[in-house]
Amino acid sequence: MNNNPYSKLFEPVKIGPVVTKNRFYQVPHCCGMGHLRPKAHAAMRETKAKGGWGVVSTEEAEIHPSSDLAPYVEQRIWDKKDIPALRLMTEAVHKHGALAAIELTHSGHNSTNLFSRIPAMSPNAQPVNFLYPKQSRRMSKRDISDFRDWHKRAALNAKEAGFDIVYVYAGHGMSVAHQFILPDMNNRIDEYGGSLDNRLRLTRELLEETREAIGDSCGVAFRFAVDELKGKDGMQFEEEGRAVVELLSEHPDLWDVNVSDWSNDSQTSRFQPNEGYQMPYVELVKSLTTKPVVGVGRLTSPDLMVKLIDRGALDLIGAARPSIADPYLPNKIKAENTDQIKECIGCNICVSSDNFSVPIRCTQNPTMGEEWRRGWDPEYIKPKLSDQQALVVGSGPAGLECSLQLARRGYQVTLAEAENKLGGRVLFESGLKGLSAWKRVVDNRVHEILQKNNIEVYKESRLTEDLISELGIKNIFLATGSSWRKDGVGRSRRSPIQGLESIKVYSPEEAVQNHKDIKAPIVVYDDEQGYLAGVIADHLKTKNVEVVFITPASVVSPWTDSTLEQKRVQESLINSGVKIICNQSIYKIENATALLECTYTGSITKVPCKSIVMVTERISNSTLYDNLMQSNLEGKTQYNIQAIGDAEAPGLIADAVYLGHLAAQNFEADEADIQKGMFMREMPSLK
Ligand SMILES: Cc1cc2nc3c(=O)[nH]c(=O)nc-3n(C[C@H](O)[C@H](O)[C@H](O)COP(=O)(O)O)c2cc1C
Ligand code: SF4
Repeated sequence: MNNNPYSKLFEPVKIGPVVTKNRFYQVPHCCGMGHLRPKAHAAMRETKAKGGWGVVSTEEAEIHPSSDLAPYVEQRIWDKKDIPALRLMTEAVHKHGALAAIELTHSGHNSTNLFSRIPAMSPNAQPVNFLYPKQSRRMSKRDISDFRDWHKRAALNAKEAGFDIVYVYAGHGMSVAHQFILPDMNNRIDEYGGSLDNRLRLTRELLEETREAIGDSCGVAFRFAVDELKGKDGMQFEEEGRAVVELLSEHPDLWDVNVSDWSNDSQTSRFQPNEGYQMPYVELVKSLTTKPVVGVGRLTSPDLMVKLIDRGALDLIGAARPSIADPYLPNKIKAENTDQIKECIGCNICVSSDNFSVPIRCTQNPTMGEEWRRGWDPEYIKPKLSDQQALVVGSGPAGLECSLQLARRGYQVTLAEAENKLGGRVLFESGLKGLSAWKRVVDNRVHEILQKNNIEVYKESRLTEDLISELGIKNIFLATGSSWRKDGVGRSRRSPIQGLESIKVYSPEEAVQNHKDIKAPIVVYDDEQGYLAGVIADHLKTKNVEVVFITPASVVSPWTDSTLEQKRVQESLINSGVKIICNQSIYKIENATALLECTYTGSITKVPCKSIVMVTERISNSTLYDNLMQSNLEGKTQYNIQAIGDAEAPGLIADAVYLGHLAAQNFEADEADIQKGMFMREMPSLK
């Protein structure tokens, strides 16, 4: 270990009365399992501990019914009844020598209270931070005192549940403590409002009372967003942010530093390509306290981690997404297998699952969220059951993942790709503006595939039924992807747009390839309402193409709200001069003009349109699948055929990777089990 260039990362760090075995710290992140699925939650956190993380944290843990986050599924520590479920996690994490941390949270006006139906409360009366027409009430002195009691009681219950580190949380504008600190959320004129000293009063009380309650045996961590990235309109790290740190510098046992709001903290690589983007904020805090500091910012590269420690920028390498993409990241660094790290691509699909209140998922790590219900682990997979061989046709995300996992199980795999490069749709998408990090989906897998001696890879091999017959492999996975349709059929219109033959119609790929020949103005028509049309418009604009973006949706790329990007997407298009037309569907092209129909009134308007990029719907490339199935039906062959990924049903890259993984896991499994399509479920107690 001493010769390991990364040995510094494995030094222990004291956090108050507890010591973490190394510098790898999984900061709080939600996972859509929380209090509703405690076994799944514990198993996911256990995988992180098994993978070498020194500290493994929960997500936000609601401390009281007046801080209910439904429909979001977070953690819960309302009273002692929550202790057994939480203990599942602490015991699982401790088994592997890691510390367990819990982020105690009262969400103030960020609470929805849709489940508890208690009015939300916050420093000021104001609308709740959820699209629902109700407001929080202003906290009285009695409320403040009650809240402090609940926080203290939750800390004691956390200790009883086995946690080693207990958080006071003042981040994201999502906690009462933070809301009291921020002047635009606190206009009180009592001793809890006005001066910074007053606005910090509650946080100081929480830190002191938490220490008093559990500080003998647990570390007290303070998560603080030192800058809101709003310039003068918010907290700035060189102004009030700094003052907060100076005033509280020695109060907590650990500073967990980030920026606010959530969309600034968990920025995607599309808008923030730099690893370590939060370091200026973290370093400032580090310079003002003697306590250990943990910082975040998609920290994945071990070389950068060592540099940061050497530079004294921080003490602990904080990670939410890098720990989701690769729960075994610390162990891989320890073993100097850094080339095996599955690098986070910064796509925020993990965030989207939280926003949809479903178990967490990850583009890079298809086992995330499946640890308990399917028994999956990113590093271990069940061995092969026989000496059967498998043929995988297509090397997009589904084909690569399926081939790799079949080979890891020990099967002999043949992977055939029609093009001269492996990667399928990822190659195209990662070439677009802002998406270069997505290429890691291909690079990480191809790197591993090339190290295996049981995968034969054939590029420029467009397989036909005859060629497949010659290969003589019976088990065939068809990962042939999908193609964008060019007739305008999409989410809002189920019949083709009329008159398209009179203009040039491009698929997204064709538009990017032929941007020099495009006749402006080009319409990018988004009736998929995902992310791609926004990226294409942005990309074409960088090539000086005059772009009009038309969509039946009421905003640009509405799906990207779930990845915390929508505002940035729309801002980027506006700033780059793309003309945006919302709430309109195209129903006809006539005389180089698009006729638009208002989605509400049906009224017609006209927009000049010499060419159009259709981003509306995809069709699975199923010709080979259909022909092979037909051959089976006619009794000519007896193939075991499965379409996977976009070839089965087009979706996100994350969906394709997942379906490729699922197919490999299910290969040769009992047919009855597969037919059930099921996984373990946590059933409500009927007690
Ligand atoms: C899926 C997801 C859920 C998160 N949930 C929480 C949370 O419950 N509490 C919190 O303080 N931060 C939460 N965060 C923010 C992270 O803790 C972290 O500060 C941020 O993602 C930046 O770190 P990273 O680049 O390592 O992901 C979440 C982040 C992600 C990606
Ligand atoms: S879903 Fe994307 S952003 Fe989230 S951890 Fe996985 S790769 Fe990273």
